[in-house]
Amino acid sequence: MSKDPGADPLVIRNVEFLGGMSEKHGWRPDSALPEVAFAGRSNVGKSSLLNSLVRRKSFARVSRTPGRTREINFFRVNNGFVFVDLPGYGYARVSKEKKAAWRPMIESYLRRTTQLRGIVLLLDIRREPSDDDRAMLDFLAEVGVPTIVALTKTDKLSKAVALESAAKIARSLALEPEQVIPFSSVTGEGRAELLNAITSLVEAAP
Ligand code: GTP
Ligand code: MG
Repeated sequence: MSKDPGADPLVIRNVEFLGGMSEKHGWRPDSALPEVAFAGRSNVGKSSLLNSLVRRKSFARVSRTPGRTREINFFRVNNGFVFVDLPGYGYARVSKEKKAAWRPMIESYLRRTTQLRGIVLLLDIRREPSDDDRAMLDFLAEVGVPTIVALTKTDKLSKAVALESAAKIARSLALEPEQVIPFSSVTGEGRAELLNAITSLVEAAP
C-alpha cells in the first residue's frame, strides 16, 4: 500500500463562520453536528492553529494584542462538524472582571454541549503549564471530554530542546506521550497528526 505523505488526512472543502457566543447561555448556532473545541491560555496560538488546520490565512482572528478572542466562535467545516474557538484564559493584563467572565461561559459551554466530541488543549511548548492550564485539564477530566494536548510554537525551539520540553510537559501533567502533539502554525509541524486525531474524535460514536 502506498500512502502519499503530503496528502491531507482531512480535506477541508469548506469552512463557514456561524457566529459567536458572548455570554453564558447566550446565542449558539442551531446545529447538532459533532463539535471539537480549542482551549488554552490567551496568546498560546488557538486562532493561528485553527487557521492552519483549515488552511485559511485569517479565518479565526489572530490577535496582535493578546486576549482578543472574547467570544466562543463557531466554524462549520465541510458541513460535517464544527470547530469551536474558545476565548483564551489567564492573560494578566485583562482586567479582573473580564478575566472572571470567561470561566462561567467556557465551563457552561463544556458542560452543556452534548455533541462535544473532544477538546484540543493548547500549551506553549516553551512554558511550564500554568495553574489555569492545570485547572482546565482537571475540569475536562471531570466533565469527561476526550482531550488532546497540542504544544504550540515548536518553531521557536530547536528540535532537541522541543523534544525534551514536550516530554517534560507530558510528565508534569501525567499525560500519555501519544496524547501530546508538538505543533507549529508557522511550519505546519504536527498538522497532519492533529487532523488525524481530530478526525478520530469526530468519527467516534458519541
Ligand atoms: P487569544 O485569542 O488572545 O486567546 O490568543 P490565541 O490563543 O488565539 O493566539 P493567536 O493565534 O492569536 O496567536 C497569538 C500570537 O502568537 C500571534 O502573534 C501569532 O502570530 C503567534 N503564534 C501563534 N502560533 C504560533 C506558532 O506556531 N509559531 C510562532 N512562531 N508564532 C505563533
Ligand atoms: Mg484567538
